[in-house]
Amino acid sequence: MHSGERLPSTRDLAASLRVSRNIVVEAYEQLLAEGYIEGRHGSGTFVSEGTYLEGLADEKFPSIDMRSDSSRYETELIDFRPGIPALNLFPRKLWGQLAEYTYINGPDAAFGYGKPEGCEELRSVLTRYLRRTRGVICEQEQLIITTGATQALSLIAKLMLADGSDAVIEDPITHEIQTMFSMPGTTLYPVPVDHQGMQTQLLPLDIQPSFVYVTPSHQYPLGGVLPIQRRVQLIQYARSTGCYIVEDDYDSEFRYESAPVSSLQGLDPDRVIYIGTFSKILSPALRMGYLILPQSLIARGRNLKRLTDLHTPSMEQLTLARFIDEGYLDRHIAKMRKIYRKRRDFLIATLMASFADRITIMGHSTGLHLVVEFTDVVFTPSLLDAIEQNGVKIYPVEVHAMNKGKQNHRIILGYGNLTEAEVAKGIQRLAAALSQAARTSSTA
Ligand SMILES: Cc1ncc(COP(=O)(O)O)c(C=O)c1O
Repeated sequence: MHSGERLPSTRDLAASLRVSRNIVVEAYEQLLAEGYIEGRHGSGTFVSEGTYLEGLADEKFPSIDMRSDSSRYETELIDFRPGIPALNLFPRKLWGQLAEYTYINGPDAAFGYGKPEGCEELRSVLTRYLRRTRGVICEQEQLIITTGATQALSLIAKLMLADGSDAVIEDPITHEIQTMFSMPGTTLYPVPVDHQGMQTQLLPLDIQPSFVYVTPSHQYPLGGVLPIQRRVQLIQYARSTGCYIVEDDYDSEFRYESAPVSSLQGLDPDRVIYIGTFSKILSPALRMGYLILPQSLIARGRNLKRLTDLHTPSMEQLTLARFIDEGYLDRHIAKMRKIYRKRRDFLIATLMASFADRITIMGHSTGLHLVVEFTDVVFTPSLLDAIEQNGVKIYPVEVHAMNKGKQNHRIILGYGNLTEAEVAKGIQRLAAALSQAARTSSTA
């Protein structure tokens, strides 16, 4: 009905709809209360003015293609996406039991608003765990539980970068991190990375940055482990320029050849802001990470976390605290390290069998991905597309480069969530796509 149109009387409408008059009266009263209709004394009930909100034309909402790229192949696509742990090996039963225990036995207060910095139980057990496994030296009060490392990074950007700030980052580094640190008025100084991580001899000397961001345990994406000489050089740089070091230790636990390398934080706890995550050692779906701040930033850090999302969900925090405290995390990591080492070895063997001296493999000592550098292939967007058409998805390093054009012959292969059979099929498809592309270009 349109504005100004007269409604039938309640008696007539009830009769035509064959419902009781009370129902119609009730409906009219509701419409009246909400302002859709108005009664005009002596002449009946009318549709009010201004009740119609025009819909937006369909074309203003371009339809979003909700299919992910992989849906073209359904389950067939072999996806070498980095940073994904073996999803089918998440300790579901154990986690479920601990979560059930937490929900049933947790104090009532745990169901209310919590502290922005997180639950005492988790912060206490995590402080001890990080000291033991990563050599991190901190007081519990310095620790803030975050919604993944991503939130920790975004809190750091907001805390430490303002108009006119400088920040030093590794190049290449994930595109997401470049975007998060690109605050208005901030200048990012990329320092090139080689097979051993950031080339600290190239740190810019003529600036006073707010921080230097590094992934020293397993540089993302190239996979280098920062040697002690560079760690020392980096700390000396931070001391002389008066800046902090942001250590993103996102991928430190799965080191295959020897014990994990200790954190940078332990070398100079006052200078290093430390970030970690449970995304790789347990599951990215938990969205559980943490941030260790120096004393001077604790109050502002907690306040910013509070204003962002009050706190990270308490039940998951309490479940994780028990998971660590009862020794399950250590056992899970030890078990997964063996599985991932086997997957990595299989991937390396398959790559060598398929490509031999056409490739160099980098960054394979730690983590859930490695990098392959080809001597004779440039991974252009059209080649990447052709490879995907062949049913395998690989990830170019070039996407993460700030200085463009130097990483085109390198790709990232994540193997954490792939079985040996999937790896074998994936590399076979990659080899077939590359041969096909080489044939096409030689006949063109
Ligand atoms: C270098 C680096 N840091 C941090 C993260 C964020 O991890 P999350 O937010 O899942 O903890 C990622 C994601 O893979 C990453 O590659």
